Amino acid sequence: MILVTGGAGFIGSHACVELINAGYDVVVVDNLVNSHEKSLDRVRQITGKRPEFVKADVCDEKAMDAVFSKYDIDSVIHFAGLKAVGESVQKPLEYFSNNLDASMVLCKVMRKHGVHNLVFSSSATVYSGDNEMPLTESSKTGNCTNPYGWTKYMSEQIFKALCVADPDLSIVLLRYFNPVGAHESGLIGEDPQGIPNNLMPYVSQVAIGRRDHLTVFGDDYDTTDGTGVRDYIHVVDLAKAHVLAIQYASGHKGCEVFNIGTGKGSSVLDIVHAYEKACGKKIPYVVGPRRAGDLATVYADTQKANKVLGFKAQYDLERMCADSWRWQTMNPNGFGD
Ligand code: NAD
Ligand code: UD1
Repeated sequence: MILVTGGAGFIGSHACVELINAGYDVVVVDNLVNSHEKSLDRVRQITGKRPEFVKADVCDEKAMDAVFSKYDIDSVIHFAGLKAVGESVQKPLEYFSNNLDASMVLCKVMRKHGVHNLVFSSSATVYSGDNEMPLTESSKTGNCTNPYGWTKYMSEQIFKALCVADPDLSIVLLRYFNPVGAHESGLIGEDPQGIPNNLMPYVSQVAIGRRDHLTVFGDDYDTTDGTGVRDYIHVVDLAKAHVLAIQYASGHKGCEVFNIGTGKGSSVLDIVHAYEKACGKKIPYVVGPRRAGDLATVYADTQKANKVLGFKAQYDLERMCADSWRWQTMNPNGFGD
């Protein structure tokens, strides 16, 4: 059985679908601080099977011990964590405490129960800002610009140290680039609380009429159209990478890092235009100042994941926008209805 922490969330719920489709039994632990249990009902609608669910905080060692005692867990995918960059600047203690305690408690309980395989949700945010593009797994890390980024960087250090100390451990660190889109059924997707921080959910709320217009954060970057370039990856592609990573982890030892992106950069205006095509409406936007801490261009070198995991993203920008729009129109208020 696979334990999926944070499995009720955006990426976790999509991973549950792909794991169940690949024949795995899944137990989700989530405290629902940023998600709804309804997402797991939707996983059942898609796959015919609802993951087992335990509402608990991954930082609660006793509760996690009980989960490992009750279920026969072979491997863990660890999504649980707080992820809002701006909020992490306002609430650093909450971020360090939640995200680092969760990683450490999980490892303690895994050790106690003899579970050796872990896949961790890391982020392209661990790379420092002065690298050449594309980013490879050996590009420079550190110099994070916010506490959220440091929690990912520090969790990676913890996992690497544990693998040095215990040769039986197998830990896969997946550095995600920009996950977007939704399951093609329109039943699960991203449901941000409040004003979205990230581009695609903001654009989709403009398209549905919940927001007036998009503000483009700067159009004077050294890019083709002056707007920021990122490596957007369909969340279903990303979810499938976790199935490959779990299979890899169970056949290998030690700590391995993989970039998970498409290897292709798209600008803010590329996203606006692709979304306009998907929804058949104009997306009004104004150009504002640059957002502090943003880089002009970030995209992945994906060769390692391709060669070692056999991973290659399938879906293009058009499909990411079409699936995001289907989710948005079928669930204008997310899971909150
Ligand atoms: P999400 O907020 O939708 O999912 C995270 C889930 O973890 C939520 O369901 C939340 O309720 C749960 N959670 C948080 N703290 C918990 C705790 N202490 N105990 C139990 N559950 C807890 O976010 P997501 O976009 O699905 O991201 C999943 C993971 O991937 C996170 O670790 C995130 O940092 C990482 N990541 C996300 C992105 C992105 O752009 N979405 C990019 C890079 C990395
Ligand atoms: C964000 C996170 C980063 C995380 C990554 C992956 C921030 C500061 N960084 O980065 O830690 O790893 O997502 O999900 O939140 N944009 C606009 N207008 C908007 C929103 C965004 O123009 O309203 C632009 C940004 O300037 C950027 C691009 O759109 O050029 C993408 O932004 P966003 O979706 O926030 O992703 P990242 O900046 O890559």
